[in-house]
This record gives sequence, structure tokens and C-alpha cells, in this order.
Amino acid sequence: MKVTVSRKAHFNAAHRLYRKDWSFEKNDEIFGKCNNPNFHGHNYELIVSVTGEIDEDTGYVIDMKILKDIIKSEVEDAFDHKNLNIEVPEFKELNPTAENIVVVIYNKMRAKLSLNLDLEITLYETPRNFVTYSGN
Ligand code: NI
Repeated sequence: MKVTVSRKAHFNAAHRLYRKDWSFEKNDEIFGKCNNPNFHGHNYELIVSVTGEIDEDTGYVIDMKILKDIIKSEVEDAFDHKNLNIEVPEFKELNPTAENIVVVIYNKMRAKLSLNLDLEITLYETPRNFVTYSGN
């Protein structure tokens, strides 16, 4: 019997979508306003879902305090109020699209969780635009 437990979190961050190896014109054509050289910000919201067996002793799939602390160290402390392109090492050479951000968050959190737990991350870049990754 597997149960999924989820926790919401959020961070504010700035980014610019572009490729260094493309001209400004090509970046403008592909990324539009998101290629603004002065960056722009988003209020990112995420849902972290962990699926696993209920532990017989505790009745938990995962202690929410532990999940909260992992989200804080791996996501909030790492990304909140940062310029993703400039200040977050994972995006030095990786375009910080919502798709790439959700994979980076998944990989960082996956490394902190027991292997018998499944993980899925949903990342909202705007209230209407969101991406989901579960390691596939
Ligand atoms: Ni953007």
C-alpha cells in the first residue's frame, strides 16, 4: 500500500533565457521577452510529492519535518532571491527554463531521499504554466 505525501514551497528568482552560442536576434526570435538582457523575475511555486510504503512504527511515509528541511536546504536556500543564471552554479551553462529547473530540483532532492521513496516535482513558473518531472 503506497501513499503519496506532498508539500508546497516557493521561491522568488530572476532569470534570462538565452544561449551564449546564438546571436541576440536568434535568442530574441526563440525566447522573446524572456531574452531580456536585464533579466526578469518569477514567483516560483512547487509541489514536492513523495510516494512510499507507510512505515509500521511511525505511520509516516516520510516525516514532514525531514521533507521540509530537504526542501529548505536544496531549493529555498539555493534559489530564493537569486539570479539563477549568475548565482546558481547548475545554470552557468544550462538555460534556466522551467523544464531545466524542475530537473535540477529533482536531482538535488533525489540525492537526499531514501531509494525506496519515489519523488515527483511540479514547478509552477506562473499560476498557469507548470512542469512536472519524476525522473523518467
Ligand atoms: Ni521567465
